[in-house]
Amino acid sequence: MSQLAADCDAINLSQGFPSFDPPQELTDRITYHLRHGGNQYAPMPGLPELRKAIAEKTRRLQGRVVDADSEVTVCTGATEGIFSAIQAIVRPGDEVIVFDPAYDSYEPSVTLAGGITRHVPLSISDDGFDFHIDWQQLEATVNDKTRLIIVNFPHNPTGAIFSADDLNYLADIVRDTNIYLLSDEVYEHIIFDGKSHHSLASHDELWPRSFVICSFGKTFHATGWKVGYCLAPSELTDEFRRVHQFTTFSVSTPMQHGLADYLVSNPEFYENLSAFYQQKRDLFCGLLRETRFRFTPSRSTFFQIVEYGDISNELDVSLAKKWTREISVASIPLSVFCEKPFTGTRLRFCFAKDDATLADAVEKLKQL
Ligand SMILES: Cc1ncc(COP(=O)(O)O)c(C=O)c1O
Repeated sequence: MSQLAADCDAINLSQGFPSFDPPQELTDRITYHLRHGGNQYAPMPGLPELRKAIAEKTRRLQGRVVDADSEVTVCTGATEGIFSAIQAIVRPGDEVIVFDPAYDSYEPSVTLAGGITRHVPLSISDDGFDFHIDWQQLEATVNDKTRLIIVNFPHNPTGAIFSADDLNYLADIVRDTNIYLLSDEVYEHIIFDGKSHHSLASHDELWPRSFVICSFGKTFHATGWKVGYCLAPSELTDEFRRVHQFTTFSVSTPMQHGLADYLVSNPEFYENLSAFYQQKRDLFCGLLRETRFRFTPSRSTFFQIVEYGDISNELDVSLAKKWTREISVASIPLSVFCEKPFTGTRLRFCFAKDDATLADAVEKLKQL
């Protein structure tokens, strides 16, 4: 869709990347290390300074003491973390449960490991906007072949979040099984309306079977850097590293040095990130009220789902393309995240853009 947006010179609210730069102190730290010898291979699990800073952040925010040496691995973006965790744990014939709409890298990674992906649709509330796990349906899908359940909260594309209760429901389902959990938490620092993020790492019963995957790309407006990390108990980290070692071996050294410095010196950046994006969400949603889309404001991430049934009944994929060409605003159709279409007439807009771009986009959408 980004390519189509570029071809049509459309405003690109499709792919999830910010239109603003990473903080300058962070790029200054990276530049410093580029110029002062931080340019050779980093250790396979990641620079000790960065792993220590990640461990400290995890202790402070999620109350989990992770061992920086044996339970934290720096990887090439969350995508590599997801891939390596899946290759580490899934064997041919194993079943892996994902919740639709699901991020697109899960299923190909499972297929490559010889696993079988079982898609469980998220439930939609009666008002049509609140997506959540149907715990009974999950329980009915789990069987002896289930090896892994992948969850992603804060959730792309719907902005759904996990509550403390949700962690307990999940614990009820996996108790007395050998099922592992992969928790994609790349939007951990973007959550609105005073709610907090409940990581699987925070839960005593879930943590021993979990791989928690995070990304600095979303947190520091730097999706092109592809630096992320995996938290997992040491036995799982051992397995993870067996794959990571021969997938990428190690991650860009100056980036790791700069991130380590900045995490320690400027925690306020990620602490204020929710407020920063909440202001964007409120601006965007305020403007969207002048259109014929129906929506409720997103609870997290930098994505807003809209329902366009009052404007058109066309399928979301063709409509998203048509509006990119004709209205010059690109969006993502929700059905591309799903095995079977069930999300109806919904599109996703990315609001990680400067205010003028958001205003220009909505001015165009008002024509509909
Ligand atoms: C839910 C989700 N997981 C993983 C990723 C990939 O993160 P990274 O760019 O760090 O590989 C993305 C990026 O859009 C995402 O939205």
